Amino acid sequence: MNNFEYYSPTRIIFGKDTHKQVGELVKQYAGTGKVLFHFGGSSIKASGLYGQVQDALRGSGVDFLELGGVQPNPRLKLVREAVRLCKENDIRLILAVGGGSVIDSAKAAALGALYDGDVWDFYKRAAVPTGALPVATILTIPAAGSESSDGSVITNEETKDKLSCDADILRPVFSILNPALCYTLPEYQIACGASDILAHMMERYFTNTKAVDYSDRAIEAGMRCLLNVAPRVYAAETPDYDDWCNFVWTGTMAHSNIIGVDRTQDWASHNIEHEISALYDIAHGAGLSIVFPAWIRHVYKDNPSRFVQWAVRVFDVDLAYEDADAIVAEAVCRLERFYKTLDMPIRLSDANIDGENLARMAQKAVRYGATGNLKKLGEQDVLAILKLAL
Ligand code: NZQ
Ligand code: ZN
Repeated sequence: MNNFEYYSPTRIIFGKDTHKQVGELVKQYAGTGKVLFHFGGSSIKASGLYGQVQDALRGSGVDFLELGGVQPNPRLKLVREAVRLCKENDIRLILAVGGGSVIDSAKAAALGALYDGDVWDFYKRAAVPTGALPVATILTIPAAGSESSDGSVITNEETKDKLSCDADILRPVFSILNPALCYTLPEYQIACGASDILAHMMERYFTNTKAVDYSDRAIEAGMRCLLNVAPRVYAAETPDYDDWCNFVWTGTMAHSNIIGVDRTQDWASHNIEHEISALYDIAHGAGLSIVFPAWIRHVYKDNPSRFVQWAVRVFDVDLAYEDADAIVAEAVCRLERFYKTLDMPIRLSDANIDGENLARMAQKAVRYGATGNLKKLGEQDVLAILKLAL
């Protein structure tokens, strides 16, 4: 097991009607200071959440400004606009109401608000975060895990770079998780969320770190829960609150890092996926269901016993299969079958992406050097994975 320090300060307020507490909670963290209420497109207006948040903030005497319009794969241009608003209005806290895109945009603005230079510096690794405004969230989609993670992922629409910045100061001060707020999600977004949550667990599970049995078992439990509950949530004609609770909580636990803190994690599949969504603007979860099976096929021989353990403990593959190759191949088939029950793409062609830009994506995925840890991947490895995914 690796040495580690675990820090996850986000206060989670979970359950029915919890969003109604937002006014009082914001007041606890912002005092009399001004707040930026940040959100995405039309979904929170259509669901009525927008008005409820306004009422709760006003009811608690919170002074706030609004900035909506965050797009999926959140754009740098709007982040810069949010930074400007924060600086000009002496904003003391940013309240993000939405999914990973809104939360990540808020985190970026929180960094930029206390920085004299351009906020993109933090993403292109030209500056190290040392301060940020507090960010609080009301989550409306279980997926990215940004509600308790230390990460923010932003797309520079001019250069087509989608880059992340990770720092503990980006963990939200509180996150409100009311699973019933997710009932309005389109099926496609439910499926993308499930794919991302599973990926966050696999990125941690596939490691060469030895003697991590506790967290292995915890991740296996999380994966089994997700594989069980996500298809039910996806197919349900009327939402089942308890299923949604398990789906949402798995999403948060998958990425708060408590299940991965003791090990060297991989993250190559995420890096490769970010190149796909940067260039083609597809949903992150849809990119991951394309990349992960190809990544496993490319790398598993570097640590076959880890993939056999995953196959047996998570996908119940019978050890009587003739060898590790057959066991892992069967597990990958079962993984792909899971994606298909959610109508997720498992090949680039399923997402109407051809081979034209594979080399460009491979080159960008290793812009900071080899990617991944279970196997360090160079440009040719990434290209081979993208070709497998065609
Ligand atoms: O914009 P609105 O109208 O709100 O619609 C959104 C959006 O179109 C919609 N939606 C969200 N909640 C809804 C809803 N529609 C109806 N009812 C609701 N309750 O869903 C769409 C997708 O939202 P988005 O926020 O983009 O989804 P997600 O949470 O999957 O976030 C994806 C982003 O997070 C990044 C991804 O790369 C991507 O940019 N990630 C962030 C991470 C982090 N910060 O730790 C880690 C992840 O690995 C990931 O990279
Ligand atoms: Zn992800």
